[in-house]
Amino acid sequence: MIVRKSPAELERMRAANAVVASVLAELRKLVAPGVSTQDLDAVAERQIHEAGAVPAFKGYHGYPATLCASVNEAVVHGIPSETPLVAGDIVSLDMGVLLDGFYGDSAITVPVGQVPVRTTELLRVTHESLERGIEQVRVGGHVSDIGHAVQKHVEANGFAVVREFVGHGIGTELHEEPQIPNYGKPGRGSELKAGMVFAIEPMVTMGGPAVRVLGDNWTAVTRDGSLAAHFEHTVVVSEVGPEVLTQIAESDAIVNAGAGDDAPVDESASSLRG
Ligand code: MF3
Ligand code: CO
Repeated sequence: MIVRKSPAELERMRAANAVVASVLAELRKLVAPGVSTQDLDAVAERQIHEAGAVPAFKGYHGYPATLCASVNEAVVHGIPSETPLVAGDIVSLDMGVLLDGFYGDSAITVPVGQVPVRTTELLRVTHESLERGIEQVRVGGHVSDIGHAVQKHVEANGFAVVREFVGHGIGTELHEEPQIPNYGKPGRGSELKAGMVFAIEPMVTMGGPAVRVLGDNWTAVTRDGSLAAHFEHTVVVSEVGPEVLTQIAESDAIVNAGAGDDAPVDESASSLRG
């Protein structure tokens, strides 16, 4: 059963997801060569607590951190480490919180310093595919319309969609029904109704779609070692169209490529938003 949230419950989900969006916006600014994903995890945990919320992932099936930080060929569920990021890396930052009984969940992928043009394209296309998926969130649509739109855009640009991980309903649980694959035929699955809330999260690779999980039992990496990107938003189905709960303020929406003063930023990356 797909739970539909009442207006009062949606108000609480807006609050939880606003915390996620603002913390991710802060983390994005901190991404730079020399910074470790453990540093980012510590900032995330502190800011979540300052907002009166609780990290959603820490302790979830034994996950050890606040943040999932997946570098380069890591697709999702990377455990924060003390290894410094270096220019040319990309890092996916995935974060969830629990506030007042409701969950929020969002992810962004951020370039570290200057990255090759094709890497910027991977980030752009993955982000665009999330937007294409979100456009399908409308009353009377079907769950599979989302994944169909994502897949079409990704493959038209020569990238591949990961199959093993999917988006999900979200509410009083981090993972609720339905599952939301990032591929498939349109017009299938449950009909979308007002008050449903979905975490839509395309995971896209530069090479093949296959993934495997490392010996830490968490980090999912591409089998072929190609780069992977991941963007996620929590979105409400409403009569007036999709309401994205984890959209960050325009003023925070500039990609900080971690370029500092010395490395030029790839201009085409600057419109990427989480
Ligand atoms: N955004 C991911 C998801 O929705 C995060 C879950 S990771 C875990 O599946 F650490 F919490 F398991
Ligand atoms: Co999620």
